[in-house]
Amino acid sequence: MKKIALLMVGIMLVVAVSVAEQNKGAEDMELFGGKQGNIPFPHHIHQKALKDCKICHDVFSQAPGSIEKLKAEGKMRKKQVMNKQCIACHKGKKKAKEKTGPTSCSKCHKKS
Ligand code: HEC
Ligand code: HEC
Ligand code: HEC
Repeated sequence: MKKIALLMVGIMLVVAVSVAEQNKGAEDMELFGGKQGNIPFPHHIHQKALKDCKICHDVFSQAPGSIEKLKAEGKMRKKQVMNKQCIACHKGKKKAKEKTGPTSCSKCHKKS
């Protein structure tokens, strides 16, 4: 019994610590967009709207610059995240008449 109780406390501690210490990353960021210009990305708005980190982070890791790193290593095509994630989701939500984000080049890419 004592062992089970200790194990339970242990598990609860691990869960509490991992919830408290989850690194949500920057609230807003700017992604590299090549010649078209960089893309301001409201990260926390997406976390709130989508709830699930895995929707994006199954494809690239929770580290700054992970998309460009995968592209440089040839593990990801250019514009893959843009087309398969950003635009695909925004279009789907638009079709479903839900809150959504931009779908045209100049609404995402900002030329400076
Ligand atoms: C709609 C897509 C999307 C969702 C959902 C999302 N992220 Fe991110 N996240 C990104 C992008 C894009 C980057 C930047 C990657 C890069 O720099 O190449 C990023 C980067 C990060 C980073 C590293 C950058 C930094 O500022 O430290 C962390 C940490 C992170 N995300 C945590 C999370 C967590 C935790 C969740 C869920 C609560 C989440 N993200 C949900 C898109 C998303
Ligand atoms: C919803 C936002 C969004 C829209 C709309 C969008 N883009 Fe992008 N674009 C991105 C993101 C994010 C990246 C960086 C990630 C990637 O390469 O997938 C990117 C990357 C790019 C790149 C650079 C790829 C590289 O690695 O050099 C080009 C060029 C580009 N987009 C052109 C366009 C054009 C042209 C349009 C309109 C037809 C467009 N984008 C529409 C978000 C968007
Ligand atoms: C799985 C769905 C999904 C993905 C993937 C996604 N978005 Fe969005 N995006 C949304 C939704 C939903 C909203 C509307 C959020 C709101 O208004 O609360 C939004 C809103 C936005 C906005 C407008 C925010 C504002 O202030 O009105 C921008 C800019 C944007 N997204 C850029 C991007 C870029 C760039 C990517 C890819 C790196 C991306 N999104 C990936 C669902 C998604």
